[in-house]
Amino acid sequence: MKVITYGTFDLFHEGHRRLLERAKALGDYLIVGVTTENYDDSRGKLNVAQSLMERIRNVESSGLADEVIVEEYEGQKVNDIQKYGVDIFAIGSDWLGKFDYLNDYCQVVYLERTKGVSSTQLRNEAGVIKLGVVGTGRIAARFVAEARFVSGVSVEAVCSRRFASAQAFAEQLELAAAVESFDELLGQVEAVYIASPHGTHYEYAKRAIAAGVHVLCEKPITLAYAQTVELYELARERQVVLLEAIKTAFSPGFQRMVAIARMGLIGKIRSIDATFTKLVDAGRELEGPDGGSISEMATYPLLAAVKLIGTDYREVSTISLQPEGAEVEVFSRIDLRYDHAIASARSGIGVKAEGELIVAGEKGYVYVPAPWWKTEYFETRFENPADNKRYYYKFDGDGLRYELAEFAYMIRTGSLESFKLRPEESAAITRIIETARTQATYFA
Ligand code: CTP
Repeated sequence: MKVITYGTFDLFHEGHRRLLERAKALGDYLIVGVTTENYDDSRGKLNVAQSLMERIRNVESSGLADEVIVEEYEGQKVNDIQKYGVDIFAIGSDWLGKFDYLNDYCQVVYLERTKGVSSTQLRNEAGVIKLGVVGTGRIAARFVAEARFVSGVSVEAVCSRRFASAQAFAEQLELAAAVESFDELLGQVEAVYIASPHGTHYEYAKRAIAAGVHVLCEKPITLAYAQTVELYELARERQVVLLEAIKTAFSPGFQRMVAIARMGLIGKIRSIDATFTKLVDAGRELEGPDGGSISEMATYPLLAAVKLIGTDYREVSTISLQPEGAEVEVFSRIDLRYDHAIASARSGIGVKAEGELIVAGEKGYVYVPAPWWKTEYFETRFENPADNKRYYYKFDGDGLRYELAEFAYMIRTGSLESFKLRPEESAAITRIIETARTQATYFA
């Protein structure tokens, strides 16, 4: 009798060992499927602590598995059971009922889960990262909701310019505390998420870094290149993590798209067109001096340019629409000239356009339909349509969980840089934004 079971087997524990023992006892040959990092990411299981290789070794060293296989895609169980001629599928009782569909292929057995132990618990014991939030706007509320999907992180407290709004926010989102000042917040947490108005990011980030508190800062990190560079330098000196919260950079689909565009499949990249617009009819976005489509929205299209062509551009030219009576520009096109490529980044808060991304190369192009900044799907397209290919990825929720998972991973592993968004890439985006905002040509 062949038995199969599956799991992540992160930080192998007693619950895992007991499950494997009982699964093995159901037959005489046990196959164990261990999930890949990619599969865990795609099903929203973020923050697994150990690599696939380590987790396979965990299972192997239990001495209970006769064979270890890798589980890498949804629906694989149906195929494995037939491929390996499995008689019994066994899994913990936390999955009760969820795998009944496998009864069409073999016997399904749910084994009582061992109480009081789990990988999640062990990861938390290794230390939950206490996080404080600065600001009480829409993005801050979405962030707190998303943080619940990232294990090992706990949003503890919030502060805001007005204490009353911090109190209301803490109550609404069920946070432990609202505090009266930023210094008080810094005394209570080891990391902060800064989601206050753009113009305040620099001061808050600087104070947090000086206090040895890690910083996840909403985009744009600052509106001045010198300030952004200074913050990254200070963070490096103080050995704290500083990460700009551009969710797209950390989402699985966008990273794959960048990798595929850069692997030569579409040939040398020559041109990028990226658009992000979101209509706004009232509020801070429409007010000077920090509002406008560039400061609000250009980060996303510029991220695409920087990740796909690099930070070494030669020239920036910008045209902005500022209708009569408007305090700020509401639609802009930023053109970047590189030595061998060009990029055009459109952003709008007063003009609506298709939010797509096109990466043109000498052999073909990548097409990412709207909303490309939540990359779930893209195509590589060629002269001969028979060569076209479609790619699908998962983008969970609002996507803020990806940036937070990366931030937590960096804190835990002591990495001051993420290849997904390097300090020099973040700084280059600030520099382009600053140039665009100060040198734009206007029309009305
Ligand atoms: N398992 C168990 N008893 C536990 C924990 C896990 O029987 N206390 C079983 C699960 O039901 C599953 C297998 O072990 O059949 C692998 O589960 P996995 O998801 O890797 O372990 P968890 O500890 O549940 O991981 P997490 O906390 O990350 O969900």
